[in-house]
Amino acid sequence: MSVVIDGETVAASDGEMLAAVLLRTPPFYARRTPVSDSPRAPYCLMGVCFDCLATVDGIASVQTCLTPVRDGMRVERQAGLRELTK
Ligand code: FES
Repeated sequence: MSVVIDGETVAASDGEMLAAVLLRTPPFYARRTPVSDSPRAPYCLMGVCFDCLATVDGIASVQTCLTPVRDGMRVERQAGLRELTK
């Protein structure tokens, strides 16, 4: 199976968590912080640190360490705060 990260198709395995795919795919981060714009990569891998947030299939601030991959999943590394819907 594969997922699409920022427009690039990346191989993934059934049962793998999305954070693991982000950790092994350059540039090796999931999001950028709102204040300093510094990159953050998945760290705790158990839903505590929130450094793994990304936009998944159009939904912002998804904890990728708690999200199993699905074939064709579309992922964007998140830059800053998520967009709020009106
Ligand atoms: S890696 Fe820490 S919450 Fe996902």
